[in-house]
Amino acid sequence: MKFGVDRREATSSSADAVAVGVFEVEGKDDRLPPSLALADKASGGLLASAWKRREVRGKKRELTVLHRPDGRGRILLVGLGAHPQFTPDSVRRAAADVVRSLRAKGARTLAYQLGSFVNGPVTAPLAARALADGSILGAYEFLRYRTTTEGGVEEASVHLGEERSAEERSLTADVAEQTTIAENVLWTRDIANLPADTATPERLAEEARSLGKAFGLKVTVFDEKQLAKMGCGGLVAVGQGSTHPPRLVILEYPGGTRRGRTVAVVGKGITFDSGGISLKPGPRMAEMKFDKSGAVAVLGIVRAAATLKVAPRVIGVMCCAENLPSGTAYRPGDVVRTYNQKTIEILNTDAEGRVVLADGLGYVVDQYHPDEVIDLATLTGAQVVALGDDTAGMVSTDDRLAGGLLAASAATGEPIWRMPLTDYHRELVKSELADVRNSTELTVAGMLTASAFLETFVGKTPWAHIDIAGPAWVNPVTRKYQPTYQSLGATGFGVRLVTRYLQDLGRS
Ligand code: BES
Ligand code: MN
Ligand code: ZN
Repeated sequence: MKFGVDRREATSSSADAVAVGVFEVEGKDDRLPPSLALADKASGGLLASAWKRREVRGKKRELTVLHRPDGRGRILLVGLGAHPQFTPDSVRRAAADVVRSLRAKGARTLAYQLGSFVNGPVTAPLAARALADGSILGAYEFLRYRTTTEGGVEEASVHLGEERSAEERSLTADVAEQTTIAENVLWTRDIANLPADTATPERLAEEARSLGKAFGLKVTVFDEKQLAKMGCGGLVAVGQGSTHPPRLVILEYPGGTRRGRTVAVVGKGITFDSGGISLKPGPRMAEMKFDKSGAVAVLGIVRAAATLKVAPRVIGVMCCAENLPSGTAYRPGDVVRTYNQKTIEILNTDAEGRVVLADGLGYVVDQYHPDEVIDLATLTGAQVVALGDDTAGMVSTDDRLAGGLLAASAATGEPIWRMPLTDYHRELVKSELADVRNSTELTVAGMLTASAFLETFVGKTPWAHIDIAGPAWVNPVTRKYQPTYQSLGATGFGVRLVTRYLQDLGRS
């Protein structure tokens, strides 16, 4: 979707649809709010009478279509809820509802009346960015395997009108930046949605190589032989049951300034997680093709960082393997030695994510001495139990880093929640045979014991772990409860969040 800024009033454009935000009004006042005057005029007074009849109420998710008597197309009124609860995320969701409602409805162009989406803390730049975000993310569909498509909005604009025309320059820059970020999310979704027969570890490495070529970034790929030589026993063990061998991929974005911080971003890239010998139950196993979402988000983050030329240096690390049962698969009882010489007692081959991350984390800390490490992983079902499908779990050993990520979360609308990491969790992952065990005897606090395990491989470097098991993808059931801008399948969760964090790091 093309998304831009237009000086004209939305109602004077020739767009197939004009979208106008409507706030819910308390009480019995049935006078039309002044922000709807232009839309009313374009509707030939239809809006005012619909308002009087209480047909248009401004309730969240309410959509009303009015047809313009001048034949210029339709006016789409989208409910935004009441003022006190209004946030940029309300706008993002409304925009996604708008573009979705226009699917297969003969509307190719769309004009947003910016002023109608601005109120209180939601300033014009925030509203314009949220309209871009919601429209682009919400319109996305994974089309690669579909032979028929319905068609929808192809071009959308935020219209400033007289009221905001003075801000055209800065709003154009805001929208351009947000469009770039949203497009990087779609690019991420397109790779994360590929099924495991196609998105093998080598294919993910190939995607990294071509990204490196396109942006002039250094990309290093270690294959299974090199991994064995380097002592990456975790990646080797998890990957040894599959005919698609493991890969460790390192991407280096040099940073926009000379003396910027170095941030390592590490992702879990299990291209398919069957559970291995500790086989998962059949129902919903297909969804485990999305177990690579963390690593693919890392690709998207590096791409966004390079496109936006963020200040910090970014080292992207993708820990890629396929977890399958076979005669060569690793087994419960095995002891694995990782890159930094620490040993893992394998008790459950389905706790494989932490085993591959052990190598990726150990390697990047040892080789690059980053100032901080962020990892993204669809790591535990316990995350989904604790926080649901919309909110990621964060565990961090550093308050500044955690605070920065929480601020980026608030700014982007990608929800994360900080959880504790204490000696209680560290005790639970101790092994009598090795340094750590990959699955605990007491099955409590699964997200946090997984974090205690990972911490062993990061050491003293400031670190934040983000468990994205819930929000990384949407299935036909969770779709009903997720915001509409998270389309079915991979969501690209983490790209907007971490990109924003990296941008802010350069500004502070
Ligand atoms: N990839 C899964 C975690 C997962 C579960 C992600 C559900 C999304 C939805 C991970 O590899 C896994 O299997 N974790 C186990 C760990 C356990 C065996 C210690 C889990 O959470 O059950
Ligand atoms: Mn697993
Ligand atoms: Zn997994």
